Amino acid sequence: MLIHIYINLLNLIELKIPIIYFSSSGNTKYIAKLIRNGLILAKLETELIPYNTIKKRNLNFEEIQVFGIGAPIYALAFTPNILEWVQNLPKVKKKVKFFLFDTNAGLPGSSIKHVRKILEKKNFEFIGAIEIVTPTRDSVFDSKFFTHVKWSRKKIEKVFQFGINLGKVIKTGKGVLDWSNPTLFGSIIRAYFRVLKKPFYKYTSKLIGYNHKECISCKACENCPTDAIKFDNKPVINHEKCILCFRCLRNCPNNALYFKLLPKAKYFKGPKTINGYIHPNDLLKEYQQKIMK
Ligand SMILES: Cc1cc2nc3c(=O)[nH]c(=O)nc-3n(C[C@H](O)[C@H](O)[C@H](O)COP(=O)(O)O)c2cc1C
Repeated sequence: MLIHIYINLLNLIELKIPIIYFSSSGNTKYIAKLIRNGLILAKLETELIPYNTIKKRNLNFEEIQVFGIGAPIYALAFTPNILEWVQNLPKVKKKVKFFLFDTNAGLPGSSIKHVRKILEKKNFEFIGAIEIVTPTRDSVFDSKFFTHVKWSRKKIEKVFQFGINLGKVIKTGKGVLDWSNPTLFGSIIRAYFRVLKKPFYKYTSKLIGYNHKECISCKACENCPTDAIKFDNKPVINHEKCILCFRCLRNCPNNALYFKLLPKAKYFKGPKTINGYIHPNDLLKEYQQKIMK
């Protein structure tokens, strides 16, 4: 037993755990940072890798021992950009461990199980997962209906604790920490929705409107995670590529871009704007001080 732990610790000396995530309105980024800080408390080195920088990184999965992937749930699955990336990962020769996390509005559709299956077929080894229903539920619109919502400390600490416990699993090389909530119902509706997904993205993205009078040609809308929007005298959306993350609408300083069904909507400005938010570093400091005492 002790030898086993010792060998695992030796293996971890050079280990830096990449945590690859996509986040449009900031919820998944927040969860990624909380997990990272839990792992830091467990004395593990990590690196947060936003999805838009992944191509530049050229990650070699034969050299990585553990990595994490996080995404928001869109249409009952991990977002299409992350899913495509996962599907294109190479099959590995040795066991590379992975953990998963997602944020959702209460309908994750057994997404963790889905991504886990894809990765296990490529020889990756599952060591844990967590799913978080975010308090706003609606990541797009800052709707009045949801203004009473707030982050609960319990939920934030749960994510942090997940990071700490995952650290133990990584260090000992033993156990699986699955805090996801797969349901048969979730798997069935995700399977059905798979057929509807393409038209859903394609036709809903056509509901993004443009008011040229408000446009200041700043091109902020071009900051798109899937390169689906190019500014050529006006924003031109590629409806095959758009994943409906609404980042272009959120980034537009003058509301020249808007959602036709809710033209006057305000956009959600991220988890920090929700009552009860605790900065991941503040939580880390708090726990570090507790240990020192
Ligand atoms: C286009 C779209 C589709 C969504 N579909 C689902 C869904 O099927 N199930 C669910 O629980 N939440 C769904 N959501 C909510 C997001 O998963 C949730 O708000 C998430 O926390 C957003 O993450 P982010 O802030 O990191 O971008 C959807 C959001 C968007 C924008």
